[in-house]
Amino acid sequence: MVLRESEITALKEISNYVNNEATTTQIINLCNQLRSQLEDKNFAFTYAGVLLATKDRIESAIKLFELCPENAFDSVLREYLLETKSFTPAAIAFQDTLPYDVWTQTDFYKSYMMATLETVKDFAKINPPPETSKIPTIVDVGPGNGVLITEIINQLVSIYNLKNLQLVLIDKSPSMLEASEKYVQEHVPIPISFTKISCKLQEITEEQLAVIREKQPIWFINMAASVHHMPWEDKLPMLKTVRSLSNNCLLIEFPANHDRPEKNTPELVYSVSEHYRFYIQDVLNCPAPETDKKICLYNFILTEGITILSQERANRIDYHATIPEWQELAEQAGFQVVKISPTTFLNERPLTFTMQLKFALSSIE
Ligand SMILES: C[S@@+](CC[C@H](N)C(=O)[O-])C[C@H]1O[C@@H](n2cnc3c(N)ncnc32)[C@H](O)[C@@H]1O
Repeated sequence: MVLRESEITALKEISNYVNNEATTTQIINLCNQLRSQLEDKNFAFTYAGVLLATKDRIESAIKLFELCPENAFDSVLREYLLETKSFTPAAIAFQDTLPYDVWTQTDFYKSYMMATLETVKDFAKINPPPETSKIPTIVDVGPGNGVLITEIINQLVSIYNLKNLQLVLIDKSPSMLEASEKYVQEHVPIPISFTKISCKLQEITEEQLAVIREKQPIWFINMAASVHHMPWEDKLPMLKTVRSLSNNCLLIEFPANHDRPEKNTPELVYSVSEHYRFYIQDVLNCPAPETDKKICLYNFILTEGITILSQERANRIDYHATIPEWQELAEQAGFQVVKISPTTFLNERPLTFTMQLKFALSSIE
């Protein structure tokens, strides 16, 4: 998922051509010349297509994406541009639950969930609920439709024979908060007392934190695929806030290089196209009805990808970071990184991982 320096230098020539308003034919000719310098030969077309789309040269972008029909990112983006004539996201991700409900039916999601549950089981076996609390409390950040946290709780119920639980759900999307509470209630066999906090975690207020602190000690904070929705500058204070709430945190993430590279750089476009092409292909392969697949692709997967590529960094919304970047942030926030477990892979590259974070009270600065 990383371009070599020589590839980045070669690809910058495409950016110069697009900025100087070269014709589509000139740009295609340049991409053909550059193929021999790239390991991923077709990426020159993808890169040029994205740059043209960000310049609103939609017809030209479509022509470039046509040259890589076997790449799911290029082919679905081409169809999207043909239909919408605009390189703008179709929706606000997570405003509605349906796109995420479709995604949780994919093969990838199921294997992500199964592998994640194994790492949570490892964590739970050596980290029992705090003895001081009669009713254990878990905080889940970004529960989505509630499918993953439900499986996590059911696993903990069987390991510790739990009789009841307090669950704090934090999510910026009111519809996801409602959906996750309902799903957990319907699929967990023990009584649960819910506390729902509707906010972006990086913007949580002192009043909202006080509500959570009333539930301390908190067994652990689960943050699965949710805290990549903020830039580097917000991730560090966010992790310090999390650290102040519980000694244990599970960070479950999707590694990619979408945080620090600037808009239109080869590094950012390469990471986005590699990351999302896999998820696009996975949705195309899933058994959901065609109309639902399209809603998932347009209103969730492509919405995220197009927002990252078309917006200035401040408005990118998704800022997936790499495993070493997350480790650096966690350590800077004062956590001890106990274990990093890659959970799913594509060609030996981790697609997801779990990071167990611990905070020793004695290490307060
Ligand atoms: C990809 S889903 C993850 C759902 C679930 N944890 C899972 O792994 O299946 C991301 C969730 O995080 C929520 N979210 C997005 N940005 C957030 C933020 N800044 N703070 C809290 N929640 C956020 C979304 O609304 C959504 O419910």
